[in-house]
Amino acid sequence: MSSLENLSHENRTFPPTPAFTAQANAQATLYQEAADDRLAFWARQAELLHWERKWDQVLEWELPNAKWFLGGKLNASYNCLDRHVLEGRGDRVAFHFEGEPGDTRTITYAQMLVEVKKTANALLELGIGAGDRVAIYMPMIPEAAVAMLACARIGAAHSVVFGGFSAEALKSRILDADVTLVITSDGGYRKGSAFPLKPVVDAALAGGDHNVKKVLVVNRTGQAVAWVGGRDIWWHEIVDRQSAEHVAEGFDSEHVLFILYTSGTTAKPKGIFHTTGGYLTQTSFTHRAVFDLKAESDVYWCTADIGWITGHSYVLYGPMINGATQVMYEGTPDSPTKHRLFQLIEKYKVSILYTAPTLIRTWMKWGDEYPADSDLTSLRLLGSVGEPINPEAWMWYREVIGADACPVVDTWWQTETGGLMISPLPGVTATKPGSAMAALPGISAKVVDDEGRDVANGQGGYLVLTEPWPAMLRGVWGEPERYRETYWSRFPGKYFAGDGAKLDDDGAIWLLGRVDDVMNISGHRISTTEVESSLVSHINVAEAAVVGANDAVTGQAIVAFVILRGGIPSVGGEELIADLKAHVTQEIGAIARPKQILVVAELPKTRSGKIMRRLLRDVAEHRTVGDSTTLADPNIMKLIGEGLQSSKSED
Ligand code: PRX
Repeated sequence: MSSLENLSHENRTFPPTPAFTAQANAQATLYQEAADDRLAFWARQAELLHWERKWDQVLEWELPNAKWFLGGKLNASYNCLDRHVLEGRGDRVAFHFEGEPGDTRTITYAQMLVEVKKTANALLELGIGAGDRVAIYMPMIPEAAVAMLACARIGAAHSVVFGGFSAEALKSRILDADVTLVITSDGGYRKGSAFPLKPVVDAALAGGDHNVKKVLVVNRTGQAVAWVGGRDIWWHEIVDRQSAEHVAEGFDSEHVLFILYTSGTTAKPKGIFHTTGGYLTQTSFTHRAVFDLKAESDVYWCTADIGWITGHSYVLYGPMINGATQVMYEGTPDSPTKHRLFQLIEKYKVSILYTAPTLIRTWMKWGDEYPADSDLTSLRLLGSVGEPINPEAWMWYREVIGADACPVVDTWWQTETGGLMISPLPGVTATKPGSAMAALPGISAKVVDDEGRDVANGQGGYLVLTEPWPAMLRGVWGEPERYRETYWSRFPGKYFAGDGAKLDDDGAIWLLGRVDDVMNISGHRISTTEVESSLVSHINVAEAAVVGANDAVTGQAIVAFVILRGGIPSVGGEELIADLKAHVTQEIGAIARPKQILVVAELPKTRSGKIMRRLLRDVAEHRTVGDSTTLADPNIMKLIGEGLQSSKSED
């Protein structure tokens, strides 16, 4: 957690300019309207969608189970595509796609609709229908968006697995959701070369203990791939020959739209699932209000990969419902040079940029000369998401990227919340650097103490949500008890977000990071337990404890303490450490690779055997170790501290 001390010294404010306010989508009156009648407020936002059948009831709330817009029927893909084409917006560009090697494609809404209809027909031919689950394991290319919308169109739930996850991680997600079709590509481009994806799918499916019947493969890079006859099908061979006619059917408002796995506090990721009507209502409303989208003139760029919730809500559904023109980029920010993203902003005249603090801090580290080489004057609004943004990074973003002229919106939300929850409204809110400011209209967020009582201004505590919201998760796939237990039991009647927060003297909300065993590495959630069990599954490891240590660029970095099995020398050589890191990469994926691994003889435990992670974090962050009097063996911390200083950390 960031230091409360530092934040309370931050009192700069940036009121909206009159010029921005005069043209803003969001009005100050929204807060009052929502406070007067929350359900009527959300119903007004829902009315902006196309419903095949209107709902009979806005909300049914049987804690912790919510249903929104009951009895309504709608189709997500129709709202993202058909509607724009039928209403004369078919020629508008949906995506300016830029591949990492520099190949480009400009895709209009009309073209996207044809592709989605053909793909929907291909899925039907493959026997996929409403209620089935489809895993999507792809790079950031237009076919990923097409695949998701084709699933939505026929009522199949997509489960997108980020392309950086390992075969093991993909397999566990395929099994958990009982997936019957996997959509992938031969590979993608990253840092100047092609990487493979299809072989990872092959490895995930190798055991045969699953129900996947077909694998649909996009040819992105032309790499040679192994082929399983009868199972594998090239995308172009089946999609291209399909009819471009497909009538989208309306599905129930509570029909499952997608599952997306996220790390919890145990080793098993949670399959967060979202349904249709409420999710589309909140993502489209927040996208209009918080990003101030003017669909005819803006070029919007959210840099998130489609494999994360930000890619689902603010690349796919929210922006497409609003008819946005977007930039989609396949590669990394430094390929071929550190100028790449700035050059793309200039090339496509990006006006709204939405990215993560880890990238902003990386840019700061690279130096101001990179953004200075491109014309960034098209920008008019900047957004941040994924982790607390420190005031320095917020100011740099505003001054260097936004030329001191763009509102900055720091948006707090989660995979579970589906859409933005806490954020300034541009044109309305006077912002403070580093604060997400206030709950959006129609959302009720509070900061409470250990007993669930509201804290006073100036005090810190836990962030909770006190009223159901349209895009809220409807559960954890196949684990209803886990849903209740994880989110609704810590403070009865309230949703526990797992984040610490503070109210400043004016009542503005400052997010302080996770309070549970979830780490936030470059804006990605990784559970300490997940990494620990992966380390323990290595033949040489007896026990492991993992902590997220503060890191200037990635927010947190993974530091692991391991005890080796008897018979193996207690001093872990470089080779063993490298092997352990590779093992975690293989088990979970590169994002979970520990930055530092320290071999220790013992772990600090209480007399009841609980590992005291707090003390390990002190060591990993080079602080004086805090109160260790409850340790079974007080000498241990001294030994660990000495060991850490002599071990090497990797950048
Ligand atoms: O700790 C909070 C942090 O990211 C967590 C949610 O992670 P995930 O489900 O992967 O979704 C990330 C993108 C929405 C939260 O519990 N977080 C997200 N946004 C912010 C944030 N922390 C501080 N400020 C934010 N703006």
